[in-house]
Amino acid sequence: MNLDANARYKSQAISYTQAVAEIFYAVLEKKYPLDKELKSYFRQHGECGSRDRYAISESCFSLFRWFGWLDSRLPKGMPAKPFESQKFCHALAAALWLEGHNDLPFFSSLIDQTRIDVSFMSSTPNDIQGKIKGLGHFFKLRKLDAAQLIPEWFVPILPDGTDVNALIDSLQRRPPVWIRIQNKSHIRVKKELEKREVVFFEHPHCLNAIRIQDTKFRANEFLGYQSGDFEIQDLASQCIGLVCQAKTDHVWWDVCAGAGGKSLMLADEMQGKGRCVATDIREDLLDKLKPRARRGKFKNISVSPIGDVCASTNMFDGVLVDAPCSCTGIWRRNPDLKWTTKVDACMKATQAQLDICEMASKKVKKGGVLVYATCSLSVEENENCVRAFLKKEKDFQLEGFANPLNGKPCDGQCRISFQPFDNDGMFVARLRKS
Ligand SMILES: C[S@@+](CC[C@H](N)C(=O)[O-])C[C@H]1O[C@@H](n2cnc3c(N)ncnc32)[C@H](O)[C@@H]1O
Repeated sequence: MNLDANARYKSQAISYTQAVAEIFYAVLEKKYPLDKELKSYFRQHGECGSRDRYAISESCFSLFRWFGWLDSRLPKGMPAKPFESQKFCHALAAALWLEGHNDLPFFSSLIDQTRIDVSFMSSTPNDIQGKIKGLGHFFKLRKLDAAQLIPEWFVPILPDGTDVNALIDSLQRRPPVWIRIQNKSHIRVKKELEKREVVFFEHPHCLNAIRIQDTKFRANEFLGYQSGDFEIQDLASQCIGLVCQAKTDHVWWDVCAGAGGKSLMLADEMQGKGRCVATDIREDLLDKLKPRARRGKFKNISVSPIGDVCASTNMFDGVLVDAPCSCTGIWRRNPDLKWTTKVDACMKATQAQLDICEMASKKVKKGGVLVYATCSLSVEENENCVRAFLKKEKDFQLEGFANPLNGKPCDGQCRISFQPFDNDGMFVARLRKS
């Protein structure tokens, strides 16, 4: 490498390290979500191109994913000049190595800066034990175990018998991209993926779900995405939509629709017929649904204030409560939440979840269904919430369905587990009103 290139890489490393430290410490101090902090940082730093954004975002995600092992080695507050902080650069280099990002050009500048001997550095092992060995060997980080990668309060809130090591292993993996084909566009979507040499995997049971193996997949560059042939949606979320079993003559209410991922799926399951009413306490989020619905050419979705739906005489064949929760099942996507969420988040959410279910249940027709879902792994927000609801609302009963992941029957509630398909962790219950 010539001197000019060296100097360029070093100055890039100085500015990346500064950006990463600013964002990382801001998230820790303000307990503000990393994805929002990144958005706000890049809004203020228009000079960052796509490569810069990629390197900075991936560095921040890596630091939070492996924070449990790096915490004690990181400076307690933001260093004045992060690139001159041996501790910060060392922890960041270790995080990038753990995440398999040693190909980022600024990784080598961090290594030079910290004088880590990389002469025999191997590529990152896939398993936790291999990573522990590598960290000890190359980065001299010792006394590590898998349990340090999750907060202490986490295991007690899980169902009895949870395989904690397998769970940690899943939580430490970067989530793949799943797409959901809509409007029966399978042939067109697969042709475009093949033409652009994207490696993909078709789910054997969820027939609209495709996992993209390419880590740098950019949906908006695909014609199929621009024309509404597919949406980005994790497999677990697609499972929730399938448990709804929406029919073409149904009217559904998606109570907590957010940006409308599940409303779009319900609209597609109803083949553009029937109707799906989307609401959310945050009406600004619903603005994101409108262009998505237009792209998918769904005329059967309408957006409404919650109050209007409650006040109307309309009753629904199906009501979906995709409830706000502690989000422990999507920690892979938001690893910062592992360290900024407190155990009471799981406890506090349950009352709100129960209130939303009760409000929503009033609008389920006799013979209709209420589907309750969360992306939480806690017993409190899932099985206990359903139990408390059933205790109060005597005209609802759990109704069995086939687990969309594998077709196996379940008794009306099930957990969508991370493996074997590499998706988020979710919970879903289907309740029939008699
Ligand atoms: C898990 S997210 C929903 C995600 C969305 N269904 C999707 O598929 O993209 C939960 C949503 O519930 C909304 N929410 C929180 N409290 C609510 C309430 N009392 N009534 C309706 N929506 C609520 C939040 O604003 C948030 O958008």
